[in-house]
Amino acid sequence: MSNYETILVEKRESVAILTINRPDKLNALSSKVHVEGVDALDELRKDTEIRVLVITGAGEKSFIAGADIGEFAEQTPVTQRNLFYEKTFFNSIDTFPKPVIAMINGFCLGGGCELALACDIRLASEKARFGQPEINLGIIPGGGGTQRLTRLVGEGKSMEIILTGDMIDAPTALQLGLVNHVFSAEELEAKTMEMANKIAEKSPIALQMAKEAVKLASRSNLDEGLRREVDLFAICFSTADKQEGVAAFLEKRKPVFKGK
Ligand code: COA
Repeated sequence: MSNYETILVEKRESVAILTINRPDKLNALSSKVHVEGVDALDELRKDTEIRVLVITGAGEKSFIAGADIGEFAEQTPVTQRNLFYEKTFFNSIDTFPKPVIAMINGFCLGGGCELALACDIRLASEKARFGQPEINLGIIPGGGGTQRLTRLVGEGKSMEIILTGDMIDAPTALQLGLVNHVFSAEELEAKTMEMANKIAEKSPIALQMAKEAVKLASRSNLDEGLRREVDLFAICFSTADKQEGVAAFLEKRKPVFKGK
């Protein structure tokens, strides 16, 4: 793995943990974080040992407190559009061919909330706080917030969060379906690794097909989604992992999936 300035990548067996490492700035997303994040995901995408990715923020206070506001003065419409168009950190997470879990340990604001929304599963500490405060700066979310948040929690709640810029606490985020589970701060890492390790034992090919299929539900009409689901399901029937899964069931043993 390359050395990065603003992120850390650790491998724990088949789970990679990518940590945004700017605790002094509450892990705000500078342009460097975006560039390094995309590069790290490109490396991890090809790493066949890695089956699940966890993304978190350094320190105890913050997951990610949004875009780096300090950089805003030098940003132009063109630099901002280039940063957020096509191959972005957010979209690299969205299209990453392995499951991505956001481990949300604190402030999850603006671009941080958008990054969490691009992940597949969100697990939060009870101390986490969520929001899209861009409106307070005279701007709007530009990293998918208006689209992914609305698809996840519905138009009314998304409007309220984006138009007021107010923060919500972890129990409220859970109630809205913005996060999957809330744990105590002490438990968050162990519970996240437990889920990551459980998922990492499944067939990586089936995981990839499942991720792609589930994402289609909010991006296609029902007929198209159902057709694509059958195609992805059928692909699974070509794999050695499917043979292994079925044989293991019939032989009453645990399957060992090799991603083939
Ligand atoms: N961009 C750049 N720097 C940020 C930042 C951001 N999004 N969020 C926090 N920081 C920096 C602060 O400027 C401060 O740096 P300093 O010590 O050099 O002055 C440091 O991180 C600690 O933040 P601070 O504001 O002192 O912590 P706090 O506990 O008082 O408040 C927040 C925490 C999250 C409520 C507050 O930092 C905040 O509102 N941040 C901006 C959130 C936001 O609007 N995000 C969307 C951006 S589009």
